Amino acid sequence: MTDKLKIFDTTLRDGEQSPGAAMTREMKIRIARQLEKLGVDIIEAGFPAASPGDFEAVQLVAKTLKKTVIAGLSRAMKKDIDACANALKPAKRRRIHTFISSSDIHLKHLFKKSREEALAATAEAVKYARQFTDDVEFSAQDASRSDLDYLCKMVEIAIKNGARTVNLPDTVGYAVPDEYGRMIAYMRNHVPNIEKAILSVHCHNDLGLAVANSISAIQNGARQVECTINGIGERAGNASMEEIVMALKTRADKYKFTTGVKTEEIYKTSRLVSTLTGFMIQPNKAIVGNNAFAHESGIHQDGMLKYRQNYEIMTPESIGVPESRLVLGKHSGRHAFKKRLEDLGYNLSPEAIDNLFAKFKDLADKKKSVYDEDIEALIEEKISSAHEVYQLTYLHTSSGNTTLPTATLKVMKGGTESSEAATGDGPVDAVFNAIDRATGFKGKLENYALKALTQGRDAQGEVTVTVAVNGDEAHGRGVSTDVIEASAKAYLNAVNKLLLKHKTKSARAAFDIQKGLKL
Ligand code: KIV
Ligand code: ZN
Repeated sequence: MTDKLKIFDTTLRDGEQSPGAAMTREMKIRIARQLEKLGVDIIEAGFPAASPGDFEAVQLVAKTLKKTVIAGLSRAMKKDIDACANALKPAKRRRIHTFISSSDIHLKHLFKKSREEALAATAEAVKYARQFTDDVEFSAQDASRSDLDYLCKMVEIAIKNGARTVNLPDTVGYAVPDEYGRMIAYMRNHVPNIEKAILSVHCHNDLGLAVANSISAIQNGARQVECTINGIGERAGNASMEEIVMALKTRADKYKFTTGVKTEEIYKTSRLVSTLTGFMIQPNKAIVGNNAFAHESGIHQDGMLKYRQNYEIMTPESIGVPESRLVLGKHSGRHAFKKRLEDLGYNLSPEAIDNLFAKFKDLADKKKSVYDEDIEALIEEKISSAHEVYQLTYLHTSSGNTTLPTATLKVMKGGTESSEAATGDGPVDAVFNAIDRATGFKGKLENYALKALTQGRDAQGEVTVTVAVNGDEAHGRGVSTDVIEASAKAYLNAVNKLLLKHKTKSARAAFDIQKGLKL
């Protein structure tokens, strides 16, 4: 007998709260579609009361997806719940997720509420949310640092007022597995109406224990797990969905749970989230890291050749790592290109295909073999450029071992082109200086990484950067056959995200003032 475990994906909400991971609506839609394909049960699309941008993104995801339950987050207050209900209106299946804290630390220093006031707010918020949907989830933030008997009271009240799912987060990643599992068991044994709700867990990874804590909770009766792709999220991130799902699948001998996740879609989803957020995946990351299925030492390679299971506990195919990657060349026609897009899971409009096909032809002129990764890079560039404030229209650099590196470039903003030139320590530095001049933006380069997107000497260079300004940071990514151009694109991509974030922040502040929102 196996139990069904619900997968609640919060990549688009908690994941987006990772520093530098702000996503545009287009990115959210693209990821949401892929999450639906992956087969998650619930997608938390955002926090509608936070800003008009968040509201619109949740609304758009709600309009677009047809199968998956779409959730929106709200504090335990009517204004937030109203925003959530409105944003979720177009959804075929909707969930309002409302929360308040249960720990004394948060009640005293964050919410400035007494225990009694928090219980009253719980009852009121859940009851109010139930007017809009039967599917209401309640979260007791910082549950793992709460007094257990008080937590039981809060959970009981939430269920009594109509919460169908009760989530007990380890908000600050403080719990350890046996203790967190015991907390879940305690709820099951001490909350009188617990059978009327599904218990959910949501673990942060501050001590690197998010996945272990989630699994311990599942063993003790939790039947929903909240997680993100690649484990992105606040601070050290959330429990990684691919690790939980593959742990349950690989150790099915021990864990008797099934999920609706089509594991063959994991790799693609992971890459999509990584490229759209600009968050690189560490090579040794479990399941989806580049080295996760690489065998380096002679003994291991020999062992693999003799019998794969000597050193392989799951296959790359089981998570959808593509086997043959060579795809198209410059003689490939539109029909073959369209077919390849479809095989990769992209059903695009004829105009979008025409646009991409033209870019593919340019690329195929520059490099002999065009791989899946190259095609995905073209698509992702199109998605992330949808809201770009500045676009690079011209770039020329000169450098050498006896010349002063110089960059001349043009950028387009709202139909107006401007040009700038600058020198630097090297061609990349010169390009970044010229971009700073052209945009009037002085970002600090926190991180720069360059790698080949595919194999071969004609591979495109993939540059990822982290740029910071005034305590804010953004990740940028650029791909090109010319690594200097890839660097320029990556830097400009990060600058554009910071500008967008700044705009969102101003809008958010105005929105908060207008609505009188306060925690
Ligand atoms: O970490 C947390 O407690 C949260 C809640 C708002 C669910 O993200
Ligand atoms: Zn969280």
